[in-house]
Amino acid sequence: MVRPTYAEIDLGSIAHNVTALKELVDPSQLCTVVKADAYGHGDVPVANAALDAGADLVAVALVEEGARLREAGVDAPILLLSEPGPEAAFDVAEWDLTPTVYTVPFVEALAATGKRHHVHLKVDTGMHRVGASPDRVEALFSALRAQPGLSLAAFWTHFSVADEDPVYTKGQIDLFDQIVSAYDPPVTHLANTAGAVLFPEARRDMCRIGLGTYGLHPCPETAGLIDLRPAMRLVTHVTHVQRLPAGERPSYGRVRALEVDSHVVTAPVGYADGFTRALTRTGSALIGGRRYPLAGMVTMDQIVIDVGADEHGVGDEIVLIGAQGDEEITADEWAEQSGTISYEVVSSIGPRIPRRYT
Ligand SMILES: Cc1ncc(COP(=O)(O)O)c(C=O)c1O
Repeated sequence: MVRPTYAEIDLGSIAHNVTALKELVDPSQLCTVVKADAYGHGDVPVANAALDAGADLVAVALVEEGARLREAGVDAPILLLSEPGPEAAFDVAEWDLTPTVYTVPFVEALAATGKRHHVHLKVDTGMHRVGASPDRVEALFSALRAQPGLSLAAFWTHFSVADEDPVYTKGQIDLFDQIVSAYDPPVTHLANTAGAVLFPEARRDMCRIGLGTYGLHPCPETAGLIDLRPAMRLVTHVTHVQRLPAGERPSYGRVRALEVDSHVVTAPVGYADGFTRALTRTGSALIGGRRYPLAGMVTMDQIVIDVGADEHGVGDEIVLIGAQGDEEITADEWAEQSGTISYEVVSSIGPRIPRRYT
């Protein structure tokens, strides 16, 4: 490795989280969501660690993501969370992915592959992103029944505000139950992390858990209810040290003046790696167990850090997410400081950052 910047992924923490989630949802099956490169943690290592720790299956957003897992030797069931276009039905069959369906053309395209598919029918109960609207479920069900190669393995839905609105979420659960009562499917699944932790009645036959796997909480309310360990630590190292007089304004835009004569250190990580520019005025870094503010604008490949009177040398470790000494920077802290959610923070740590597994 030439650039001393990497993400440490603790597979022991993934295993711990999967075990804790499995215990929580027992006897429901646990489906670990590993889309988007396992929320930036690395899809193949996370899928294997989760399955070894007791996950029953994994889920992805894209056919390409499922194919990657299969190519790497993952042989557990892989649930596709959305329909691809009908032209991808043969890929779904070739990679032995478990399809989600919500349109008749995709059902017909699956049937045309001539392969047997155990499909999961997705109902839209209020998320309004994808899924069959309640008034289309009967037509979809009939289209499915008409295809001897297709069997209905599950009905499912997805929550839009399980982390923030119990009334709306309970409405989704009730609507789902009302729709499903006419069909008696062998399996139902509704819950994401917040749904599984906060709504025991939503656990059903299976839960689809993403965020909790990575040791992150969807909202403060879940924090007291399950012990999760963050699995990602983002680490870089000092590559350059300067002593600058008070009044100097490091980096693009000259956005911040040093209040006193200071040491400013440079680190090789930037917004092209997921260290968003939105952290320029709020972000911090840990060096030698101490927390320091950025000294100026985040650039594409580098950041500058104001270490004040302290002295740090080239090669010193800098932690951007995770613990160092008694200090810790969490993905939630980044999210708050940059106006987003921890999901986006970790899944935005880009492909230029190697993952190191411990
Ligand atoms: C359909 C579906 N199910 C489950 C999940 C997992 O959600 P979470 O990461 O909140 O557990 C996601 C993630 O966005 C999803 O899109």
